[in-house]
Amino acid sequence: MRGLFATTTGRVILLVAIVIVPVLAWNASTAATSIRAEQERVALGVAASHLDEIVVTRRWVAEHAGVWVIATPGVEPNPYLPEGERELEAADGTRLVRVNPAYLVRLTDELLARERGVSVRVTAFEPLNPENAPDEWESQALTRFIASLADSEPIYAIVDVDGAPVLRYAIPLAHEESCAGCHVDSITTVGEVRGTLSLTMAYAPFADAADDLVRRSYLRILALGALAFALVGLLGSMLVRTEARLRDANESLAEANAELERQSAAKTRFLGTMSHELRTPLNSIIGFSGILSMGMAGDLSPEQRKQVGIINSAGKQLVALINDILDLSKIEAGRIVLVAEEFAAAAVLDGVVDIVRPLAEERGLELRVSTAGAEGTLYSDRRRIEQVLINLVANAIKHTDSGYVAISVVPGVDEVTFVVEDTGVGLSAIEVEGIFEEFPQVAADSRQTRGAGIGLMISRTLARLLGGELTVESEPGCGSVFTFRVPRRLPEAPAQET
Ligand code: HEC
Repeated sequence: MRGLFATTTGRVILLVAIVIVPVLAWNASTAATSIRAEQERVALGVAASHLDEIVVTRRWVAEHAGVWVIATPGVEPNPYLPEGERELEAADGTRLVRVNPAYLVRLTDELLARERGVSVRVTAFEPLNPENAPDEWESQALTRFIASLADSEPIYAIVDVDGAPVLRYAIPLAHEESCAGCHVDSITTVGEVRGTLSLTMAYAPFADAADDLVRRSYLRILALGALAFALVGLLGSMLVRTEARLRDANESLAEANAELERQSAAKTRFLGTMSHELRTPLNSIIGFSGILSMGMAGDLSPEQRKQVGIINSAGKQLVALINDILDLSKIEAGRIVLVAEEFAAAAVLDGVVDIVRPLAEERGLELRVSTAGAEGTLYSDRRRIEQVLINLVANAIKHTDSGYVAISVVPGVDEVTFVVEDTGVGLSAIEVEGIFEEFPQVAADSRQTRGAGIGLMISRTLARLLGGELTVESEPGCGSVFTFRVPRRLPEAPAQET
């Protein structure tokens, strides 16, 4: 048990028990109280309806100055009636006896007690008939009725008689006009309390029925409680288990993340170092092959010059590729620092065109530059914007065999959009989707794809760093349109290069 409450599930169950048990106990006790009160009301109703009937019968008998019945064993002339008014002899010799209301109640009481377990009495202080003297409980009721006159409420009590509960119930009997015929000497005022009609009834059947109902409601509440307990316990333990699983999953995720970060940092370090290492010998190759091709180290045959030229341009291509890789590693390491300055939109185009025009001429392509929309100024990282544009135009030139490459500008209030259009081979839908990825997806048999350069991926990353976007629209055979949108103001406070 101790072990169970040490676990989280155990604690949840304990907590639920602490909450549920008092609620159930409270529920059970209020249910018992209300069941017992209800049962008491039922018993009082039974008593009241018995007495109601008797009162009505008594009144009828009083209004007819008593009833005459044939004298039978047990029905004797009432000695408390005036002499000469107690009995009669009919013409045929039958003996008749006069029965007054109080006597009627006494006579029927026996029957009521036998058949209904109910006993009734008519009593009064200073009775005509000493038998009608009230007992202790009836005296108390009478005293209260007399004190508060005839309209008093019934008085009742559940008393213990020989260990069994008994209901005692009394109502006042008021003096009415019809009573005066016989009760001349005692009380004369109509409406005054003449006596009491009282009832005594075994309460055990009602108490037993109430106990039975209470027991059943306890069982119901207990069953409900058990159900609630089981449900909450189940939910709780499920919650606890889910929580534990989530925690485990989170831990392993965090571990995996840390491992990934370590690997990525290692890759970035490796790329950075390798690029530096490679650039040094490559610069020698480019430098010395340049010197060779210029004939500064002696004359070369045309064939030698051509081959040295190939070595030189291959070296330059390699350096460009290595610069790209270095850029990429900087981007991945989040080490790109943007430097914002104010400059004219048109100035960007001038810078780009200077660099790409020779490339276009080399490939025999027309370079169309429209400065029409290049209005206003930008406050951004000029070098990075130029880098993206040069990359786009160089890429277009590289993949266009004939026709033109066009650069134009669409001005906006808050942003400037550069459009680079070509008449090249175009891109398939799959290529469009993958073109900005690190290793673009290309059709296996297509030799005329944009190639596996990482320039476009870097360009898009830079465009986004600048707060803009780089998109492409293309169809195979219809050329491509690259759109480079950049805000006029660099979104965040420009950091200073350290
Ligand atoms: C026909 C005559 C008669 C009439 C009518 C009558 N009574 Fe009585 N009453 C008696 C007699 C006789 C007794 C005493 C003997 C007995 O117990 O029968 C008595 C007894 C009582 C008692 C019991 C106390 C006692 O004095 O013994 C009460 C209370 C009582 N009557 C109330 C009433 C009321 C109230 C009425 C009117 C609704 C009424 N009676 C009408 C004749 C009458």
